Amino acid sequence: MAAAFVLLFLVFFVSVHDAQKPNIVLLFADDLGYGDLGVYGHPTSSSPNLDKMAKEGLLFTQFYSASPVCSPSRAALITGRYQTRSGIWPSVFGAASTGGLPHNETTVAEILKKEGYATAIVGKWHLGVGANNTYLPTNHGFDYYMGIPYSHDMCPCLICFYPDQPCFDKCRTDDTPCPLFENTKIVKQPADFTTLTATYTNAATGFINQNAEAKKPFFLYMPYQHTHHPQFASKAFRNSSIRGTFGDSLSEMDSSIGEIFQAIKSAGVENNTFVFFTADNGPSLTRQVRGGNQGLLKCGKGTTYEGGMREPAIAWMPGKIKPGRTNELGATVDVFVTITKLAGGQVPTDRPIDGVDMSPILFEGGQSNRNFYYYYPMSPNPSTGVFATRLKQYKAHFYTKGGLAGPPYYDEDCWGKTPEKKHDPPLLFDIMQDPSEKYPLSGEKYAAILETIVKMTEKFNSEMIWGNSEIHGSNSSAMPCCRPSCSPFPSCCTCGTKNTGSPFGFSPAFELLV
Ligand SMILES: *[C@@H]1O[C@H](CO)[C@@H](O)[C@H](O)[C@H]1NC(C)=O
Ligand SMILES: *[C@@H]1O[C@H](CO)[C@@H](O)[C@H](O)[C@H]1NC(C)=O
Ligand SMILES: *[C@@H]1O[C@H](CO)[C@@H](O)[C@H](O)[C@H]1NC(C)=O
Ligand SMILES: *[C@@H]1O[C@H](CO)[C@@H](O)[C@H](O)[C@H]1NC(C)=O
Ligand SMILES: *[C@@H]1O[C@H](CO)[C@@H](O)[C@H](O)[C@H]1NC(C)=O
Repeated sequence: MAAAFVLLFLVFFVSVHDAQKPNIVLLFADDLGYGDLGVYGHPTSSSPNLDKMAKEGLLFTQFYSASPVCSPSRAALITGRYQTRSGIWPSVFGAASTGGLPHNETTVAEILKKEGYATAIVGKWHLGVGANNTYLPTNHGFDYYMGIPYSHDMCPCLICFYPDQPCFDKCRTDDTPCPLFENTKIVKQPADFTTLTATYTNAATGFINQNAEAKKPFFLYMPYQHTHHPQFASKAFRNSSIRGTFGDSLSEMDSSIGEIFQAIKSAGVENNTFVFFTADNGPSLTRQVRGGNQGLLKCGKGTTYEGGMREPAIAWMPGKIKPGRTNELGATVDVFVTITKLAGGQVPTDRPIDGVDMSPILFEGGQSNRNFYYYYPMSPNPSTGVFATRLKQYKAHFYTKGGLAGPPYYDEDCWGKTPEKKHDPPLLFDIMQDPSEKYPLSGEKYAAILETIVKMTEKFNSEMIWGNSEIHGSNSSAMPCCRPSCSPFPSCCTCGTKNTGSPFGFSPAFELLV
């Protein structure tokens, strides 16, 4: 009797204790610029749900992704470590890549799972598939996965708009059609872009409802395919904005985010759910008006200028996070540490972690635990190391290189053809007074700050242990679903028979396709 009572008490205690752990929702956009949201100043975007999130939450003005391109940025987000450590360099995974995020990396999902969380990812993973699915998210701490595991331009894009309108941008016609995975199984191929967002939203809200009902804390990681090119949208969002194709894609994502907030409220967990929104890298300027917009920042995706890596970021937790705006420094690697602590988990101590806890900024209106940031380029290598370093309001560029833009973009510094340039002494800017990096500083007055930045950067570079590159091989037989086990075999799949044979499996127009 007493034992049964104790057991009952324990069950009660454990369930109450679990119920108190905050749910965590991490929303992640693709190729979204600092100037793309209404609340960040875009005059013709329609992003009412994100704007509302910002009104009720905390908006960051100085928040950085870890890379100006996709895979490395995502690796850093979920491991709290710069991509150089985990081997997610140089550049990004393709459909035929055989590598992936190493299994000895600890993801935030693995940590939260240990803390009793249900974990799911819905959307674009882009940290490898592997010939036998070994790198998919369900082998990295996620209980559930639904999504296209890489960029949706890494497949022949056929129809992007309801009912049957073509995509605007070129895609990789020699790759396998976009596979939609559920866990490790392909459930649709080619994926249908006109219904994809609804599929994602339903998977996400279903996961929220199921766990809220079961009183199990949940972690939902929601990396949207939006607003990466080729932009796509369902019937309700086609021509819905006055910003064209990009605006339609953004509106559809925003509406999905609205549905996720609605699910959180309907499930009665809005007072115990932490929601964070940011993006992987800056806008794809090659797409011109169909790409995103970095606002007042310089250049975009593929560069270590501010436009490549400074991102919109909004934190929301009613009653815990005071609405407002912060100029404190934050970074995606910090999201890892912050979420881990919120969930009561342990930040790994057996390896270097680059993130810091953002709790003082989020919950105490205090100062950031970081006053510096290191910028790795799109394709880093150990001999150059970081391209730029920020310390307080100052940013020093040791190297600069063009990104992915080209003419008629007005600023040649952002062009793909602009070669790597070493700056000695480094180019120095005061980012707080000159966010657009227009007016380099020089002279005696800055000698001391420059010396400090040079020293800290040399130390950081010399201490970095580079993980073996995982972005090495590709084999067209590794593409889903070119494997013999794939059934039914998609009729439009060429399985790389038209592949160009470049060592990375990338076509010569690679720069158009990142
Ligand atoms: C993971 O394994 C690789 C290869 O053995 C090793 O180089 C790396 O240091 C390991 N990473 C961690 C975090 O243990
Ligand atoms: C998948 O393939 C890798 C590389 O060949 C191998 O190390 C791993 O054990 C395989 N995993 C499974 C689950 O078969
Ligand atoms: C959207 O606008 C384009 C360009 O004006 C037009 O061709 C298309 O028919 C419109 N689509 C819908 C669904 O309204
Ligand atoms: C959440 O908190 C607000 C403000 O305190 C309150 O009005 C609302 O009823 C709470 N919601 C739930 C589901 O407890
Ligand atoms: C590609 O994969 C296939 C099937 O696993 C294998 O037979 C072939 O040797 C691989 N090719 C290369 C170049 O590694």
